[in-house]
Amino acid sequence: MRVVSGIQPTGNLHLGNYLGAIRNWVRMQDEMGDGEQCLFFLADLHAISMPHQPAELKRGTLEMAAALVACGIDPSRSILFNQAQVPQHAELQWLLGGTARMGWLNRMTQWKDKAGKNREGQSVALFTYPVLQAADVLLYQATHVPVGEDQKQHLELARDIAQKFNNDFASEDAPVFTLPDPIVPPQAARIMSLRDGAKKMSKSDPSDMSRINLADGADEVMKKVKKAKTDPEPLPSEEKGLEERPEALNLVTIYAALTDRNVDDVLGEFGGEGFGKFKPALGELLVETLRPISERFTGLLEDREALDAILARGASQAREIAVPTLEKTYEALGLVRG
Ligand code: TYM
Repeated sequence: MRVVSGIQPTGNLHLGNYLGAIRNWVRMQDEMGDGEQCLFFLADLHAISMPHQPAELKRGTLEMAAALVACGIDPSRSILFNQAQVPQHAELQWLLGGTARMGWLNRMTQWKDKAGKNREGQSVALFTYPVLQAADVLLYQATHVPVGEDQKQHLELARDIAQKFNNDFASEDAPVFTLPDPIVPPQAARIMSLRDGAKKMSKSDPSDMSRINLADGADEVMKKVKKAKTDPEPLPSEEKGLEERPEALNLVTIYAALTDRNVDDVLGEFGGEGFGKFKPALGELLVETLRPISERFTGLLEDREALDAILARGASQAREIAVPTLEKTYEALGLVRG
């Protein structure tokens, strides 16, 4: 088993990232057996596909590294690095570019959402982004990729690329790439904005009130939960009753994910209650969950050199695993290497 996953170091780590992905990273790390490995990386190369400020990207990369360690990623057990220090990611992306098809990329919902009507004005990197994502996991022969629901389509594309490459350039008994399986958490695969139950919680939402950041203080968390959009109805006693109430469902989903219960179970406790009772309970639960994380985060940020060292060491371990697959890929394509 080899687990690989990434996160863009733009903006703050928020509750959607945590419940949808990072918490699973930590669980998978804690379950690793002998000879198994977890690689987690900051997708800084992906971050340049949208307009960005270089100084912010630099700061964001170190902050995200600190946030991951604060959440429980242990650099002595998992390989933690940023893509820019492992040039094999960009190299493999180019090599896979001969296999990926324009039509496949054109169908990606994230591309369609982000580009909107202005496709001509987007960067080439935004379009080819999923090919880099495929390279990220194929480079390490990943078997499992823990992600939120929104990244599942990109992982399916990575499988398609791997399969076509193996078919076109490798023999059946010696495939170049392993087909990776996306691992999406049953609860919390998609945490929604606190202001609009139809939009996912996201770092790019201009309103900070739409998300809980893992570094938010207790007062801020309580305020955001109190102001979260809801409706005047009391909570039903079963999930079915929340079908037309996306904001209410989102808050109950967050509560369920934080306590490792399912939505029906939480509604069994809170059914019949209004938000006047539910919101403070949710707020307190969030504060309790986030307090140790944000304390560790603040401490880690103070030691910039230690963070640099963690990323440098992780990158060197990652390169070692990456090189043999990259060489096999060059060879399979008939590219002459000295
Ligand atoms: P990113 O940085 O947008 O998000 C990181 C992880 O958090 C999950 N996530 C969510 N889960 C539930 N609810 C939400 N509201 C929510 N928002 C984000 C994402 O699904 C993701 O798992 N392209 C990727 C980064 C990436 C990657 C990879 C991931 C680059 N290469 C290779 C896996 C494998 C991204 O932008 O994630």
